[in-house]
Amino acid sequence: MIKGRIVGTGSTTPKRILTNKELETIVDTTDEWITRRTGIKERRISSDGRGENTSDMATMASLRALEMAGISAETLDMIVVGTVTPDRQFPSVACFVQKALKASKAVAFDVSAGCSGFLYSLSVACNAIATGSCKNALVIGVERLSSVTNWEDRSTCVLLGDGAGAVVVTPTADRDGILSTHLGCDGNFWNLLYSSDGGSKIPEILDTVEGKPFHLKMEGSRLFKKAVSSLTNIAEAALKHHSLSSADVKLMIPHQANLRIIKAVAEKLSIPMDRVYTNIQKYGNTSSATIPIALDEANREGLLRAGDNVLLVTFGAGLTWGASVVNWSF
Ligand code: ACO
Repeated sequence: MIKGRIVGTGSTTPKRILTNKELETIVDTTDEWITRRTGIKERRISSDGRGENTSDMATMASLRALEMAGISAETLDMIVVGTVTPDRQFPSVACFVQKALKASKAVAFDVSAGCSGFLYSLSVACNAIATGSCKNALVIGVERLSSVTNWEDRSTCVLLGDGAGAVVVTPTADRDGILSTHLGCDGNFWNLLYSSDGGSKIPEILDTVEGKPFHLKMEGSRLFKKAVSSLTNIAEAALKHHSLSSADVKLMIPHQANLRIIKAVAEKLSIPMDRVYTNIQKYGNTSSATIPIALDEANREGLLRAGDNVLLVTFGAGLTWGASVVNWSF
């Protein structure tokens, strides 16, 4: 059976670091509260004019992934981007990346699935590879959440950050590769996390808060409970599908929304925290980008070896969730 295999990873984050201490001067919060309730110490924020737009970051992460893979952009058949913060409503971020990379053979499109955008995109690419309609795919998770953040809402602005990660996926008939992806969704809970304006129903309201747009609305504590149960259930389903136990997981790379959520899920799955990758301390929640950034960092830190089982698991707006078991290839 043909399936996808990851042969290169790449990531990038903006230069500007926004620390918890700086946030103390913007909203009524403290470094102590943010660290204790979320695990976040700092996050990266894109600056205009520095090549840090969503599509710029997506392109940079992709170049790094392609370089690692030793694959030229001209050989790509597909570019799929998971994002909820595209440069523009249209065209897609993927089209800008296709242009920047000169990937003239590739079809390109975005997938909107909240923080689960990367795993949803990976699933689309893997299915295309399995059917033979695509050989080389580039899968990206990227967000510029700072562009939709209400900097007067302390319950959300302390959580979010910007960044991008990418993987190159090619076909394999061997044992390694992306063994499966498992996705879920429940639109009944859309109102736990949503964008308040900027769509066709409510076009962007520029004067909502003193001339500044604000879009992201979140009901944190209800989302917290949903996140723990959805992440745990989909991770268990993915492991069961392959008759794997938590002992078979070399590294779990979860969506980085809150360290307390990650610890609760790890405990429920009986995976000790020394086999759970976290970088939320440095980047906060970068939505679709958290998993590919973490995967790239773990890979470049030498934490992954050929044959290791890596469990990717995510949750986000929609509500959406997903998990994937990857038998690492290199
Ligand atoms: N600084 C200081 N105090 C704060 C802050 C802040 N930044 N934010 C909220 N508070 C206060 C609240 O006002 C409240 O005060 P009160 O008790 O006087 O009313 C108190 O802290 C507790 O607020 P809660 O919302 O109950 O705090 P909680 O422990 O639930 O933590 C948080 C909030 C961090 C948002 C948490 O609920 C969370 O992480 N939720 C899940 C988010 C999530 O899963 N996201 C995943 C998908 S979304 C995505 O990835 C983009």
